[in-house]
Formats: sequence, structure tokens, C-alpha cells
Amino acid sequence: MQLHLTRPDDFHLHLRDGEALGTTVPATARTFSRAVVMPNLVPPITTADQAKAYKERILAQRPPGSSFQPLMTLYLTDATCPDTIRAAQAAGDVYAVKLYPAGATTHSAAGVTAMEKVFPALEAMIDVGLPLLVHGEVTDATVDIFDREQLFIEHELWPLIKRYPELRVVMEHITTRQAVEFVREAGDAVAATVTPQHLLYNRNHLLAGGLRPHLYCLPVLKCERHRQALVEAATSGEPCFFLGTDSAPHGRQFKEAACGCAGCYSAFGALELYAEVFEQAGALERLEAFASHFGADFYQLPRNTETIRLEKKPQPVPAAFPFGKEQVVPLRGGEFLQWTLL
Ligand code: DOR
Ligand code: ZN
Repeated sequence: MQLHLTRPDDFHLHLRDGEALGTTVPATARTFSRAVVMPNLVPPITTADQAKAYKERILAQRPPGSSFQPLMTLYLTDATCPDTIRAAQAAGDVYAVKLYPAGATTHSAAGVTAMEKVFPALEAMIDVGLPLLVHGEVTDATVDIFDREQLFIEHELWPLIKRYPELRVVMEHITTRQAVEFVREAGDAVAATVTPQHLLYNRNHLLAGGLRPHLYCLPVLKCERHRQALVEAATSGEPCFFLGTDSAPHGRQFKEAACGCAGCYSAFGALELYAEVFEQAGALERLEAFASHFGADFYQLPRNTETIRLEKKPQPVPAAFPFGKEQVVPLRGGEFLQWTLL
């Protein structure tokens, strides 16, 4: 069985920097035409000039002949001023601004400590038409990690979109039924990305029968009924749900550690993994819109015109990929993908 699809885009991607780009950029460029590149480097990408320089480093790692385009983002901090937003939009490399609640996840220390602090920046984003990308988890250490997304929706997202109904918001990497309901109810200015790991795995895969650090990401995998709600949403054909892998590689020793860091590396075979989800749901005919149409439409970008082919043919996944001087263990490492990009 073969599928012909418009070449897809990845609306949520971590490429990292330095030698890691030699692995991550070709892996994504093999499948995707464009990718929204997360700004959580150390130090973070907070200005148009930094975004432009990072973009150049990414472009330098494209395979010969590739027309892959990174769509850059800025990292929102308490100190981001409206002029920084306007300058970034005017320079043309920046397509969105990312909100990490301070302390929520990997490299989020410089993130936002209270929503009020960024109101002036958000107002500038509305003016110039830049969307806000949100890591939707509360950071209160007393809140159970499995409840953090749901509480963020109640305490932060509903008030935010009521205050700024014109602001376009992407709730990134949604993991719960409550997030699906929020996105459906919030109106046309709100959308969500869904990752392959949250569609394929639940918290038993992470924790039962042994701890699997390479399935640990944030927001953490939830229970099966939430996974089913995500599959139902992603395969529903509703344009507010679209592809964003959150492929987030870390060197093996930082994952297989006493205090392992969060992130799953999926870029090497992301579309193949999504195809598996859509096939299992009996919705292969809706994969193209999820992967190649809805995200571009939300970002007000032209849809891609090139096409790609996927075949239902198993292929082994290497146990690890080179990653600069280190190794990265991919999602499904040492197992099989059920589909193959031709
Ligand atoms: O699992 C994650 N990894 N979640 C995030 O929000 C950040 C990402 C990373 O940068 O490693
Ligand atoms: Zn991410």
C-alpha cells in the first residue's frame, strides 16, 4: 500500500545547535519542507539578530539540493519588550514567539514568571500578527505532574484568550482530553500541535515493567484514555489539530542518568510514526490534511506543492544515531517503523 501526500511541515521542532545540527537538520529535511524551530538554546534566542544567526547555522547543515526552510521563533521572557517583537516581525525570519513558564521544562529557566509581565509583548504580537506558542503546564511544585496541563488551561489559558481574543495561540504538544476540549471550544484563533509519542504511548509504556528514559518528555505521557482523546482529535479532520513532532534530542548519557532530562527524538521517522497512528485509527485519508495542510493554514503560509510517497513496509530503527560527539537514542530505537518514506 502506498500513500501520496503533499510534503508536510513540522510545526514544533528542536534542532539544538553546533555539531548536533549535522544530525538533526538532515533528519528533518528528508521529510519536511518547513519546520518551526524552538528557541530554547542556552542562552535562549530572544532577538531577531540571534534568530537570524541561528537560522544561518541551520541552513549551513542542509543536505545538498534541499530546500528545507527553518521558521524561526523567539523565546519570550519577562523582559521581552514590544520593540523586540516588532523588530523580529519586520526582519522576516521569525514566525512565532514561544512562551515557556519559567521552570516548566528543559532550558526554561529564562521563561515567563507571570502572564502579566508579557502583556505588552503580547499586544505587540497581535499588532504585527505573530502567533504565541505555549508550553501549557503550571510550574507549582506542589501540583501533581499529571495535572499540570489541565490546571494551566484553567488558570492561564482561558483568562489569556478571554483577554486577547485576537491573539493566535498554539497550545503545543497537547497531552490530555481537557486540552482537546479547550482547543475545540476556544475558537478559530486557537490550535494545537500533537506529537507522535503522545499519540502512540501512554504512561504505562514509560513506567510499567521498567523505567524507559527515552519515552520521558514534558508534558509527561498520560494515561490511555487521554491518549485515545488525542488520537480521536488528530484523526478527526478538524483543522485546529496539526503536526508538531516536538522532536527533542538529548545525548544518551543525559537521558540514561540518575536525573534524566525530558525529550524524545523522533525526527528520523516522524511521518512514518504518524502514519501508523492514522492507519490504526482507520483514518489514513486524513493524514495529509493533519500533516501538510492545517498547520500551514493556521500560520497563514502557502501549502507546499511538492509531493512525497509513503509505503506500508516495515523498516528497522537503529538503536542510536550519531549526535555530534555523542549518541542519541531515537523513539523506537532497536524496533521497527511500520511505514517507509520512499
Ligand atoms: O520533553 C521536552 N523536551 N519538552 C519540552 O518542553 C522541551 C524539550 C527539550 O527541549 O528537550
Ligand atoms: Zn518542544
